[in-house]
Amino acid sequence: MKNEYSHIRRDYSKSELNESNVNDNPFLQFKDWFDLAIDSNFTDPNAMTLATSSFDGKPSARIVLLKEFNENGFVFFTNYLSKKGMNLNENPFACLLFFWDKLERQIRIEGEVFKISIEDSKEYFDSRPRESRVGAWASKQSHKSNGREEIETRFSNYNSKFGEDVPLPDSWGGYILKPTYFEFWQGRTSRLHDRITYNFENENWKIGRLYP
Ligand SMILES: Cc1cc2nc3c(=O)[nH]c(=O)nc-3n(C[C@H](O)[C@H](O)[C@H](O)COP(=O)(O)O)c2cc1C
Repeated sequence: MKNEYSHIRRDYSKSELNESNVNDNPFLQFKDWFDLAIDSNFTDPNAMTLATSSFDGKPSARIVLLKEFNENGFVFFTNYLSKKGMNLNENPFACLLFFWDKLERQIRIEGEVFKISIEDSKEYFDSRPRESRVGAWASKQSHKSNGREEIETRFSNYNSKFGEDVPLPDSWGGYILKPTYFEFWQGRTSRLHDRITYNFENENWKIGRLYP
């Protein structure tokens, strides 16, 4: 098979990352890079790939938006009965991935995922625009549909059912991924990229480096 894409490549030389200039705390290191991604006015700087897998080890990945992070973990919102929700029921271990191409940076975060409290889900749900809240009722996320019309009919039915006050559906809410591993990747020349890792061991974050 002829490969039409083999010429696509670039060199990476914007920055470097080493054991002496990373923060001891991976959450602060994340904040440092995330703040720069936000300040750089990228489209969806908080978009991250969430990789999950089923009980029998079949992987699945999709983009979700990071809505909050703190020293407890990384929070996103979704439908608990979606494919990712089903995967997380079966296997709570997951991975998050950020890629900011203009900064030549990638961050991997691995850990265990938990549902956040209904109160916290409700607080965020109530802050969303009304049509997004109605959409959460209308969408049987990841389930087979009989066509666009069926989906729009469900939306308009819920739209007329609720007034301004749209309640939180049982099937909708937040998850928090509590990390045990981080990897910060900075592109370098000659493909000798920097990969600085943090492993949570004996209640401490231990810094290491991987070959590129
Ligand atoms: C930029 C972007 C942001 C998204 N944000 C979310 C999100 O925050 N929550 C969500 O459930 N789906 C989000 N989606 C849709 C998901 O990628 C996915 O299609 C959906 O959640 C169903 O995934 P699943 O079938 O694997 O559960 C987003 C998609 C894109 C492209």
